[in-house]
Amino acid sequence: MKSTLIAAAAVLFVLAVGFTAMNRTEAQQLTPTPSPEVIKRGEYLVKIMVCNDCHTPWKMGANGPEPDMTRMLSGHPEQIGRLPNLMPKEPYVFSGFPTNTAFSGPWGVSYTANLTPDQNTGLGIWTEDMFIQTIRTGRHMGVSRPINPPMPWQMYRNATDEDLKAIYAYLRTIKPIVNHVPEYQEPSESN
Ligand code: HEC
Repeated sequence: MKSTLIAAAAVLFVLAVGFTAMNRTEAQQLTPTPSPEVIKRGEYLVKIMVCNDCHTPWKMGANGPEPDMTRMLSGHPEQIGRLPNLMPKEPYVFSGFPTNTAFSGPWGVSYTANLTPDQNTGLGIWTEDMFIQTIRTGRHMGVSRPINPPMPWQMYRNATDEDLKAIYAYLRTIKPIVNHVPEYQEPSESN
């Protein structure tokens, strides 16, 4: 009896190890580890496509406002939080907060997303496919509500799959920052 139990336990153990190994192999096939060259290309693209301009909060520097790179790509600061939906005086149609991370206009109030790999407040759970679909379709997480101005997805959607994959790969390697960005506000919503 005892030996049957031990044998059964051994079989279960072998099965469990087998499954774990299989899952790991499958996961690796789904998201192959990008090469250092791909990550470098992603970094270059993020820099020249000015993601930091809007997704990194600005601070006052020696020569005027500049992105605060200690908070690189962490989005609209949660300490500032939600802001009123104010329409500016004509002829202007939208206004921006000094951090350049919150924008109020006819679309409501949009807050730049946390693009760091933080699990709960950043792109942590995003797959590569979700990221590419978001940029291509202009929809939140690639499937839901439309993404609002001034996120220039209409321009970025012209990037090749290869370049979008490189951007995603680079974004997985940057420092994760916990920063809970407020939800986008519809024009009808008050703050
Ligand atoms: C001119 C400002 C601006 C620039 C430049 C910009 N973004 Fe955005 N981005 C935004 C705003 C604003 C939002 C939030 C829009 C909303 O919530 O409707 C956003 C949202 C996003 C989202 C989240 C979409 C979602 O599903 O919630 C991703 C991903 C993103 N941007 C990636 C990028 C990347 C990558 C770059 C550079 C290649 C970039 N952005 C450059 C303003 C900008």
